[in-house]
Amino acid sequence: MLNTKVIAIANEKGGVGKSTTAVNVARALVDRGRRCLIIDLDESGGATTSLGVKMAGWYSTLDVITGGVSALEAVLTEEEIELSLPKNLHLLPASDNFAKGIPEFLSRIENSAMPPSYLLQPTITELQGKYDYIVLDTSPLVTATTPAAYGVADHVIIPTQLEKLSVERVAVAMHRTESSRRFGNKSINVMGIIVSMAPNPLTSLAKHHIEQLDKLYKTSDGSPLRFKTIVHRAVALPESVEHKTTLFEYAPAHPAVEAFRGLAKEIEERLGVSDNQSRATTVKQNASENAELVANG
Ligand SMILES: Nc1ncnc2c1ncn2[C@@H]1O[C@H](COP(=O)(O)OP(=O)(O)O)[C@@H](O)[C@H]1O
Ligand SMILES: [Mg+2]
Repeated sequence: MLNTKVIAIANEKGGVGKSTTAVNVARALVDRGRRCLIIDLDESGGATTSLGVKMAGWYSTLDVITGGVSALEAVLTEEEIELSLPKNLHLLPASDNFAKGIPEFLSRIENSAMPPSYLLQPTITELQGKYDYIVLDTSPLVTATTPAAYGVADHVIIPTQLEKLSVERVAVAMHRTESSRRFGNKSINVMGIIVSMAPNPLTSLAKHHIEQLDKLYKTSDGSPLRFKTIVHRAVALPESVEHKTTLFEYAPAHPAVEAFRGLAKEIEERLGVSDNQSRATTVKQNASENAELVANG
């Protein structure tokens, strides 16, 4: 078991691929032998729905944050017989009373002196060491749970489409990460930017946005902050949501599955986690390392 790493998937624009990234990157990490928990912090429940889980009838993230239910009691696992969650991909689901419940909770408690992280810190503390990764799927709205996610995350991953509005919001997520560090979350950093839903082949406008991203956002060693692996537009992704499961279960041979595997590999490289996959897989991945993985629509 690694030290639990908390990764927030954030971009305050809706529909850029946050939930899709959360679910399928976590699923790819599971294939690398990791235990992952997704905490759904979005009142619209993108990750919850994508995994075929109803937004009622279970303990939810809201119950854990507000109701004194322990996170471990609330977490849904592969052992839930009504569900078909992949092994080692657990979920703290969103619920349909989320949008109302959080403001109600906040109005009941004296929270003016609390840092934003206080909503989630007890949950993260409880789950420390139980998972390799906790992935926070955040809301596009600036509800209290988004600052809370920035308050507890070790790393932020920013998905963006190659469109003006979406690319522009990358700056907001960068800025929020910086202010979270200033307000006391010393360990937080932006791990990378994921290009999602890219046209295939890339249009000249899409290439322009990639160049802009690479010019503006760099790692400390000067290389692009953007992950090399690009997720292209693929109808199989919304289809997998209809089929209530990840793309890995729905269409295991789809090129986008390779893209999510490539992202998981890049994530672990950036984290300095050693690759303990089989040699055969490693060799195959190395061969494609310098090529941007292509997911056909
Ligand atoms: N690579 C992709 N190709 C095609 N559709 C996608 C892709 N990624 C996500 N989608 C679809 O786009 C919509 C928005 O994606 P989602 O992950 O829910 O975004 P967000 O969480 O940022 O709002 C969903 O219907 C999802 O199935
Ligand atoms: Mg979402």
